[in-house]
Amino acid sequence: MDKQLLKAAYSPEDFRQNGHQLIDLLADHLNKTLNKSSTKVINWDNPSEEYQFWNNFLLNGKPSDLNNEILKRSIHLHHPHYMGHQISPVAPVTGLTSLLNAILNNGMGIYEMGMAPTAIERVVVEQLCKEIGYDKKSGGFLTSGGTLANLTALLSARKKRAGNDVWENGTSNKLAIMVSEEAHYCIDRAARIMGLGEKGIVKIPVDEGFALKTELLEQSYNKTIHEGYEVIAIVGSAPSTATGIYDDLNAVGDFALEKGIWFHIDAAHGGGAIFSSKYKSLLKGMQKADSIVIDGHKMMMMPSITTALLFKEAVDSHNTFRQKADYLLQESMEEDWYNLAKRTFECTKYMMSLHWYTLLKIYGKDLFDEFVTTLYDLGQKFGAILENDSFFEIAVKPMSNIICFRIIDKDLDLPSLNKINVTIRQKLLEEGEFYIVQTKINGIIYLRATIMNPFTTEEHFKELLNNIKRKAIPLLNS
Ligand SMILES: Cc1ncc(COP(=O)(O)O)c(C=O)c1O
Repeated sequence: MDKQLLKAAYSPEDFRQNGHQLIDLLADHLNKTLNKSSTKVINWDNPSEEYQFWNNFLLNGKPSDLNNEILKRSIHLHHPHYMGHQISPVAPVTGLTSLLNAILNNGMGIYEMGMAPTAIERVVVEQLCKEIGYDKKSGGFLTSGGTLANLTALLSARKKRAGNDVWENGTSNKLAIMVSEEAHYCIDRAARIMGLGEKGIVKIPVDEGFALKTELLEQSYNKTIHEGYEVIAIVGSAPSTATGIYDDLNAVGDFALEKGIWFHIDAAHGGGAIFSSKYKSLLKGMQKADSIVIDGHKMMMMPSITTALLFKEAVDSHNTFRQKADYLLQESMEEDWYNLAKRTFECTKYMMSLHWYTLLKIYGKDLFDEFVTTLYDLGQKFGAILENDSFFEIAVKPMSNIICFRIIDKDLDLPSLNKINVTIRQKLLEEGEFYIVQTKINGIIYLRATIMNPFTTEEHFKELLNNIKRKAIPLLNS
């Protein structure tokens, strides 16, 4: 075998040439999207047409067209008209750290398989813990996404708070977790994965502002205990996904302390506000939490998926997956901080610490302040514009960069209005000039915008609303 293909696949010169071309393509793309000279945020195609295209491209497409086609057929988060799901338009330098990661491909499971990124990860985690207000006992690690991090935190909670060591012995005890009914679905899923079942997820209703009703905690806890459950944890949202409202973390933290249960905060979206001098107070009480999840790929300008799971007591992160024999090695825990697979769900994981560290090193933590503060300010501004426009109604005054609103008309009933709002969102998607999403709250369909791009302006909000009105008026009059 002459290994021609292998030589081509590993050619440093091809890599150099293709790499330069790709960087040029992406820099032009950033220029066009950030400055809005490309009109569309998405070139919508339905799933079966898209599938046909790529099936055909594999046989007939020109390799030199591949990257261009991928670009054309992807949603553009750097476009200021992108106001959809909660994913960052990445700081371009983290595209370069992604490249570095991809080529080095250190697996991170044990120290030798990633010396620099492992040590860097510890530095990053310590910075985050300090910002939260945790003391020296704290620690944590980076992991693959908020969903996995929330599950891992709840496993830590079970390890520490369940009377029986479930990890070691299994259990038929009835365990329960308390959480707001507005929490992200991954908490519910995590509890089910842990075998808690539907009844083991105690959903606490929210108030009219969509925050967990703290006055119901005592009653709900007592009822759950009375039914024979062992409550191991309570989860606060910072903020919840649909409406972007922060729970009263201080009150939830006090409740957890009083009951001796684990307090976990899902700050996947809004944890980055620890860096915002203006909005940090939304997280008041967060240092009471036993564990906190913060996504780098949501409000911290990093590529997917990059998540921090932080613990008030680092020892808890060691104990989660610890097996019986490991207890004998308790003394060696300090030396063991660098063998990350002992603490993470993953065995192999990518060098995500490079993104956090590079942003901190090049721009400093004030970059995160600028990003979060700008976006949350924009959320307030968009909310105010909507409140002053009788064509629309907002679900709740925004607390963050997530805003739910809908077209209203006093002459139409709810099903008709729901239909109109759904139709508008679909038309926007197909047209591709703006990207927003929709959500259903208490049976009411809302249009949902998450302002993710710091270069979105009030002018863009007005253009969006005018666009929606143009589409809605004929529907309202028909
Ligand atoms: C509050 C909250 N928690 C968890 C998640 C899930 O995080 P990931 O997508 O990183 O798995 C999301 C995603 O939107 C979220 O909004």
